[in-house]
Amino acid sequence: MELKSQINTSKLPKHLAIIMDGNGRWAKQKGMLRAFGHENGTKSVRQVVEGSAELGIENLTLYAFSTENWNRPKLEVKTLMNLLVASLKKEIKTLQDNDIKLLAIGNLEELPKKAHKELQEVIEKTKDNKRMILTLALSYGSREELINTVKKISIKVKNNIISPENIDESVINEHLYTQNLHDVDLLIRTSGEQRISNFLLWQIAYAELYFTNVLWPDFTKQHLYEAIIEYQKRERRFGKTSEQIN
Ligand code: IPE
Ligand code: IPE
Ligand code: MG
Repeated sequence: MELKSQINTSKLPKHLAIIMDGNGRWAKQKGMLRAFGHENGTKSVRQVVEGSAELGIENLTLYAFSTENWNRPKLEVKTLMNLLVASLKKEIKTLQDNDIKLLAIGNLEELPKKAHKELQEVIEKTKDNKRMILTLALSYGSREELINTVKKISIKVKNNIISPENIDESVINEHLYTQNLHDVDLLIRTSGEQRISNFLLWQIAYAELYFTNVLWPDFTKQHLYEAIIEYQKRERRFGKTSEQIN
């Protein structure tokens, strides 16, 4: 049976997040430079963006560049930033055609001017789109996000806008980069690594984790369907017993 038809569209993850990993190894296997892997990774981005929108997933968040990735060789960082600009220019049409709104999370000020400007433009142009919110995590680190959140809340406490007794989960949520996005339901990581690498630590508190050996440039809609089918087989108990759920 076709994989897509096995998906129960009334039980989709509201928020799907993906750690897109393995571009470098994919290129190396082919005797090519890492940049070749990154270029081919953009095809997989299109696959999951279209695939998620077609299914009816409301939020898709992609880890594209971490705060730690700034420590890579200068030339690789430059390649990734140029690729970001080129992809934004090229994919704005895909976003508009599919009614997808773009957001970005991370320390965006750190991005090269050109990338920052292009990003802001696409965010502005797609701001009224309704079908799906695509969030790119760029220069993103979860610990940095949490530090930033603590600072913002502290300033409000200092200025008597928030009182410490009233700080609860919703206050934290409102001050994260992800603001009012739903908690992550399903987190996919490609390339066989089984770690979180400083991604959405608060937001994945109760996410289902899915690891696959597929390297990111090989990841297609079919792999996305496989992950969602597996997700739908899991019983999400949120601390309760199985009997309470059923
Ligand atoms: C993911 O692929 C892309 C980024 C982290 C920007 P990698 O570049 O990490 O590929 P591997 O892990 O070295 O194979
Ligand atoms: C995580 O991948 C960051 C992104 C996918 C953007 P890395 O390849 O940088 O992760 P580590 O360093 O191997 O954990
Ligand atoms: Mg990697």
